[in-house]
Amino acid sequence: MNIETLWEKAAEARKSSYSPYSGYAVGAALLCGNGKIFTGTNIENAAFSATNCAERTAFFKAVSEGEIEFEAIAIAGGKADEEPSGDCTPCGVCRQVMAEFCKDSFSVIIQKNGQPKGLMLGELLPMAFRSENME
Ligand code: THU
Repeated sequence: MNIETLWEKAAEARKSSYSPYSGYAVGAALLCGNGKIFTGTNIENAAFSATNCAERTAFFKAVSEGEIEFEAIAIAGGKADEEPSGDCTPCGVCRQVMAEFCKDSFSVIIQKNGQPKGLMLGELLPMAFRSENME
């Protein structure tokens, strides 16, 4: 699957974003090793810290359905009810969740100037702390 196609699925997922506090709608599309795609959106909360980002929503949906191998994730963001615009990159907590399940070579399709751009997890979170560190 090319990066544009996965990113368009992330942009489509933004329609379900629950973001009444920030007005910033994010969508994610996570491609599993077996070809399945799980989407996610940001889900905000009046107690702000309980907010879940789109990327973690997609990962938690997939892992809770038994998926454990992942190839790529695409992220699209922008003001709710508008097209994706500007830059949208995963927050630090989401990068750490990605590192739990994915190698440094995992493909992260971020949004730069409203367009998809392919990066690797190892670029976004160098020297990630993983279970191997505790061996
Ligand atoms: N957000 C995401 O869902 N993913 C990102 O990559 C960046 C930020 C959400 C969290 C919050 O609901 C809103 O965007 C503003 O921070």
